[in-house]
Amino acid sequence: MKVCKTVDEIRAYRWLDPRQSWGLVPTMGFLHEGHISLVRRARGENDYVAVSIFVNPAQFAPHEDLQAYPRNLQRDLSLLEQEEVDLVFVPDDSTMYPPRSQTFVIVSEVAQPLEGASRPTHFRGVTTVVAKLFNIIQPQRAYFGQKDAQQVVVVQRMIKDLDFNVELVVCPIVRESDGLAMSSRNERLLASQRLAAPVLFRALTAAESAFFAGQRQASDLRQIMIAEIEREPLARLDYVSVANPETLLELDVVEDKALLSGAIFIGDVRLIDNIPIEMGLI
Ligand code: PAF
Repeated sequence: MKVCKTVDEIRAYRWLDPRQSWGLVPTMGFLHEGHISLVRRARGENDYVAVSIFVNPAQFAPHEDLQAYPRNLQRDLSLLEQEEVDLVFVPDDSTMYPPRSQTFVIVSEVAQPLEGASRPTHFRGVTTVVAKLFNIIQPQRAYFGQKDAQQVVVVQRMIKDLDFNVELVVCPIVRESDGLAMSSRNERLLASQRLAAPVLFRALTAAESAFFAGQRQASDLRQIMIAEIEREPLARLDYVSVANPETLLELDVVEDKALLSGAIFIGDVRLIDNIPIEMGLI
């Protein structure tokens, strides 16, 4: 497994055999089973697998948890070695954002609601770094988790709009046994907070059950989620949403499909989760 810190090193290795296919798994490290599921899928579908590990400052607002974001590079590298990853890109901040860099990639409409409303500069940081990773590594496929549902929609829009020659592969959410979606941020939860954290998944599944029992009013589905979250004293609601899965705009009535999603704070840890629902799919 080759570990590279610079763009030149990556390019030299990437193009040793131009006929081979490459899959990229972009990450911010502190890897868990969710990341490993992406790596395994990439391993099965490509000749070469690259993983990037970069805690991207551009996608954190000044008051957010950039400094507290968990990191453990040695552990990450040994996990990736076990998965037979070929190339790991571990740039530092000045490699990704050299002094005087002043270019951002901004996706407009689909980046604005939901996470974009709570974190207005988040997605321009994500799309800028993902565009740079695509340019540096030039993978045929890139693997993203469904957990960041809006990120998938935003990156897909960017790929189409900027003609990136990359297939975006979306992999299912991996959950703990109590339903909590795996996330590097779960590490920051204290024991009592960890017990409270599955409330978001419970809220989403309650709304999902109501939908399949015939409830079509989006406001009622939102209310079901809010009521469940409010029952947990350690949880603070950020938002819940019943949105069109393509435009991410809020629905009045769910016709055949929707994206149920939400964000909560447990202490200062912000958790997100979602369940796509579709008539005939259960
Ligand atoms: O999903 C993430 O971990 C990050 O947003 C990504 C895609 C690695 C970009 O920094």
